Amino acid sequence: MCGITGYVGSRPAVETAIRNLKRLEYRGYDSAGVAYPAPAGVRIVKAAGKIAQLEASVQDQPMEAQVAIAHTRWATHGSPSQANAHPHPDCRGDLAVVHNGIIENYAELRARLRAAGHQFQSETDTEALAHLIEERLPEGEPTPQIFLEAVRQALREVRGSYAIAVISRFLGNAVVVARKDSPLVIGLGEAENFLASDIPAVMAYTRRVLILEDGDCALIEPDRVTISGLDGRLRTRNALHVDWDDQAAEKGGFPHFMLKEIYEEPRTVRDTLRGRLLADDRVTLPDVGFTAEQWARIRRVSIVACGTAYHAGLVGKRLLEQLLHRPVEAAVASEFRYSDPLVDPETLTLLISQSGETADTLAAMREAKRRGSPTLAIVNVVGSTLAREADAVLYTQAGPEIGVASTKAYLAQLTALTLLALYLAQNAGMPEEDRRRYVAALRALPEQIEACLSLSERIEAISAELAAMSCFFYLGRGYDYATAHEAALKLKEISYIHAEAYAAGEMKHGPLALIEPEVAVIGLCTQPATHEKMVSNLQEVKARQGTVLALLREDVPAPDTADYLIRIPATLDALSPILAMVPLQLLAYYVARQRGCPIDQPRNLAKSVTVE
Ligand code: M6R
Repeated sequence: MCGITGYVGSRPAVETAIRNLKRLEYRGYDSAGVAYPAPAGVRIVKAAGKIAQLEASVQDQPMEAQVAIAHTRWATHGSPSQANAHPHPDCRGDLAVVHNGIIENYAELRARLRAAGHQFQSETDTEALAHLIEERLPEGEPTPQIFLEAVRQALREVRGSYAIAVISRFLGNAVVVARKDSPLVIGLGEAENFLASDIPAVMAYTRRVLILEDGDCALIEPDRVTISGLDGRLRTRNALHVDWDDQAAEKGGFPHFMLKEIYEEPRTVRDTLRGRLLADDRVTLPDVGFTAEQWARIRRVSIVACGTAYHAGLVGKRLLEQLLHRPVEAAVASEFRYSDPLVDPETLTLLISQSGETADTLAAMREAKRRGSPTLAIVNVVGSTLAREADAVLYTQAGPEIGVASTKAYLAQLTALTLLALYLAQNAGMPEEDRRRYVAALRALPEQIEACLSLSERIEAISAELAAMSCFFYLGRGYDYATAHEAALKLKEISYIHAEAYAAGEMKHGPLALIEPEVAVIGLCTQPATHEKMVSNLQEVKARQGTVLALLREDVPAPDTADYLIRIPATLDALSPILAMVPLQLLAYYVARQRGCPIDQPRNLAKSVTVE
């Protein structure tokens, strides 16, 4: 995820902003930049790569600035490059903007501003905002208040999410900031103030912070912060005192990145949906880049991926089959590439990957291309090899995932797969009523995920009792069987307990022999059509003294055989894997924590597997 910092006060501003930016490095980025006022406007220095490169470029610049804004970019629109790095200026170089988030209507704004004569230097959505502010500035030398009003006017025309910071020669020693759906905090000092997208970035200097809320704008000067809404009315925010230590701060106060990333899931799903659901409940995938003819040629789908991404593919297979009524394959990439894959120009090969750098997935994509199959990558990292080489890309918007165990990226993959399935089904004449039901269920997901996160304490308590188990079985039918695979992987990779996913109906064909009190059986019962069958399967386990945890929708009766119950909100069958995975990730996390495991970096594993 991108990082923003800024400073106003009597310290060397550029140095201070860059020093604070380094405290956000752990979030991952591909370029960095800084802007500060210069005699004739603003000066911007940017570099592709690491902050060290930016520091080297800044060294030979004359600087006495007492105001600066800085940014680390994690590409979302446009490749990772110096040109696309923030800050972005207007045409005249009077102002510079840094931005986190996504401007959904940027293409429309860009076209309009271009037609009005604005010159763009990058492919980013952010640059449209810089020109839009310029467009709203009156002739002459606006006062800081008039400049602030121009920013507000520009933001009223923007759809999407943003945390922005703007400097300008018209602002003097001040910065304008604003936020909507993207975090922004102000660190309060003595005759100096700091701004950042995250608290850790200001903690070296102050523990007093103001957390901006959606719709807030602020004028930050060394000795005061004035907050208003987009309508110009003044607002009040109370300062908080932060007493985290440095390590906790890097993880946003969470003990591990994995837990932090699980808590980012509502936002991840919201961001992945953003701009892809129209007001009339149709799905649009404008960024994918296939032509109407390319979409229309697709007769079959073959999904290829590794690990967690493959498990997302198992859900995707069912979903696509259900909505398209066509057979869909799902294969692990290491098998696909060495088989004789049945893909052809009418088969869409769908590659799923968080990193976009997994060696087997890349090789599978190249094999599919050799066979004339169109390739579409569902990928998280913009500019990754998979994103560059696939014929088309559907980006997930999970932001950087640091924990080795994939969590929020999985939910983003499932969300993207649902959008894709709906898009294809919509093109194939899906009844409007059905589509609207799916879209309504998708829109409800972020809040329902919040409800799942509120189970955290209860799951922690259950985990304390299950952490000593010798083995876990995850049982399910239909979509729940696909979820069982990912839940078992999550537990084994971070807790080192053997865990296995099984089709619930298969237990009595062999594995039931393993059941004893030290074996935990997690029964996934989110599918109404097979609920009673699942309850019977759990009874069979209980009759052999297994320890049973049942995960159920909130609207079905509880089986009397379960030792533990977890209830999740009801949704459509096809979306239940998204909700069910949240408590299952928490369960894996808390069991691993009970056992004292190094959760973010489990033994023998790497975040990105770039060898076969
Ligand atoms: O970056 P990718 O999504 O291609 O990675 C695939 C797998 O290596 C990855 O999902 C792995 O299984 C995770 N450690 C699971 O938590």
